[in-house]
Amino acid sequence: MNPQLDPERLPRHIAIIMDGNGRWARERNRNRIFGHREGSDSVRNIVSCCRTLGIPYLTLYAFSKENWQRPDREVKALWRLLKSFLKSQLPEIIEKEIRLCHLGDPEGIPEDVLAQLQAAVAETARYDKLTLSLAINYGGRQEITRAARLFAADVQQGKCDLHALTPDRLSEYLFTTEFPDPDLMIRTGGEYRVSNFLLWQLAYAELYITKVLWPDFREPQLIEALCEYQHRERRFGKTSEQVRRTRSRTGEAKRL
Ligand code: IPE
Ligand code: IPE
Ligand code: MG
Repeated sequence: MNPQLDPERLPRHIAIIMDGNGRWARERNRNRIFGHREGSDSVRNIVSCCRTLGIPYLTLYAFSKENWQRPDREVKALWRLLKSFLKSQLPEIIEKEIRLCHLGDPEGIPEDVLAQLQAAVAETARYDKLTLSLAINYGGRQEITRAARLFAADVQQGKCDLHALTPDRLSEYLFTTEFPDPDLMIRTGGEYRVSNFLLWQLAYAELYITKVLWPDFREPQLIEALCEYQHRERRFGKTSEQVRRTRSRTGEAKRL
C-alpha cells in the first residue's frame, strides 16, 4: 500500500469518465484513434492498480449513447478497439479473478463486440476480487427511463404496488442494482460536466476533475486522486461537527 494512503479510507467504488484521448493525440499530431489506443493502456494500468489496492468496484465510461454522433470512422475504430481489448485482456482478467459487468444498452452494440462482451461477462461471473463495470452504449437518462419502464411493467402485472415506490426500490431496476454507489467520480481531460454518466448513482459521490488527459492517467495520478479523496469530509447533509463526532466515536470503538 502506498504510504500516503490510509487503507481504512479507500473508496469502495470508483467511477471514471475517461476523457481526453482525442486531445492527447492532437498534441502529438496523430489521429484520434491513436489516442484511444493509448487510452486502453491506461485502462489496463488503472484496473490493475485498483485490483492491487483492493478497491472492490470500478466503473469505466467507455462509450456513451451520445458518442454515436462521432464520425463513422471513429465509432468503428472504437468498437474494434473494444473488441480487441476484451479479447486480449480476458486471460489477465480471469487470472486476477476480476468480475466483468456491462452497464448499458446491449441493443445497438455491433454483434461481434456484444458477443465478446457477453462471453467475458459470463466467464468472469464467479469472481469477486474486483467488479469491473464497463459503461458501453450507456446513458444515465436512458438507464433511469428503463428502470421506470420496468417498474411500471411490474405494477401492471400486479407484482408491486405503485405506492411502494421509493428511491431504494427504483434503484433495484438500474443496471447497478447490486453495487454500492460510487464514492469517488474521476473525470480526466478537465471538463466540468457529467456527460450523462451514472446520473442517479453519483448523488453523493466526491467529484475529482483533473486536466490530465486519459492516456496520461496512470498509477501516480490515481494515487493523487485517492489522496485528495481521503482529505474530503463527506457530510451527507449533516454538519461538520456531527461528522467529526461520529468519526471520533467510531475511532474510539475500534481502539477499545
Ligand atoms: C474519451 O476521449 C474517449 C471516448 C469518449 C470514447 P475523447 O475522444 O472524448 O477525447 P477528447 O475529449 O476529444 O480529447
Ligand atoms: C464522455 O466523454 C463519454 C466517455 C468518456 C465515454 P465525451 O468526450 O463524449 O463527453 P462530452 O461530449 O465532451 O461531454
Ligand atoms: Mg471528450
